[in-house]
Amino acid sequence: MDLRLAGKVGIVTGASRGIGRAIAQSLAAEGMRLVLVARSAEQLADLAKRLPTPSLVQVADLRQEDAAEELVAATIDQFGQLDLLVNNAGATVRGDFLKLTDTEWDDGFALKFFGAMRCCRAAWPYLQQSQGSIVNIVGIGGRTGSAEFAIGGSVNAAVLNLTKVLADRGISDGVRVNAINPGAIATDRLQTRIDKSASDQGIAKEEAAEKLAREMKIARFGTPTEIGDAVAFLASFRAAYCQGSIIDIDGGQTRTL
Ligand SMILES: NC(=O)c1ccc[n+]([C@@H]2O[C@H](COP(=O)([O-])OP(=O)(O)OC[C@H]3O[C@@H](n4cnc5c(N)ncnc54)[C@H](OP(=O)(O)O)[C@@H]3O)[C@@H](O)[C@H]2O)c1
Repeated sequence: MDLRLAGKVGIVTGASRGIGRAIAQSLAAEGMRLVLVARSAEQLADLAKRLPTPSLVQVADLRQEDAAEELVAATIDQFGQLDLLVNNAGATVRGDFLKLTDTEWDDGFALKFFGAMRCCRAAWPYLQQSQGSIVNIVGIGGRTGSAEFAIGGSVNAAVLNLTKVLADRGISDGVRVNAINPGAIATDRLQTRIDKSASDQGIAKEEAAEKLAREMKIARFGTPTEIGDAVAFLASFRAAYCQGSIIDIDGGQTRTL
């Protein structure tokens, strides 16, 4: 299926590993030129080297107020256009609500909510020019609350609402804004969770992984590429009527509407 993405320009935040890296690989495989953003220069450079299309490495801490403006300016300097923004960078800690600190709450919102919001604001005029789109990588915790995921769930719910807000504006401005809610995707982040659970319970990692999947009532964990390919679809003309769509890609974990 030709997605007609060849030659278009996209920003992928949190591209240094995990889901963001896979998104960059899926988009570059479709011929997109990319701006790869994260704090780890080496991992970004390694990815850039392996992609089939030209890319720009932008090392940035997206919690910083000026980072989004600088990122978009660098994109326009390098490529002269912007067709897609993928807000993927995110890192929120799990834990007992009564033990989570203000700093942890601030940090969670600073990156995944305020970082994404600022990227959307800085990118918007260029996306309006190109009639481009935004894809927010959010998480099923934004729909379904769980006791140990207070920060992540709250941040994700806020990003889902921002998706709808900007999709509404995008109808008149010609910018499509959509979101993907990944479920349990096999990345380093999930592996860390499995490793901790294995050591807490004194069981093997494989057993802890199987137990977690059973508790989630899913047949298996997802792969980062399954998210990357969905982003490519949403970014393409084939998803032209997706506006404010929120797609759960979670192996059936979310059972509510
Ligand atoms: N994996 C899952 O099962 C799952 C499920 C639901 C939702 N999600 C969401 O999907 C997204 C990606 O998840 P993942 O599992 O791939 O996470 P990950 O492996 O922890 O990767 C997070 C990415 O964000 C970047 N990042 C972290 N802090 C940053 C900062 N201050 N400034 C700029 N970049 C920063 C990291 O790079 P540096 O450390 O180099 O900066 C990395 O590239 C996240 O938003 C996450 O909430 C994941």
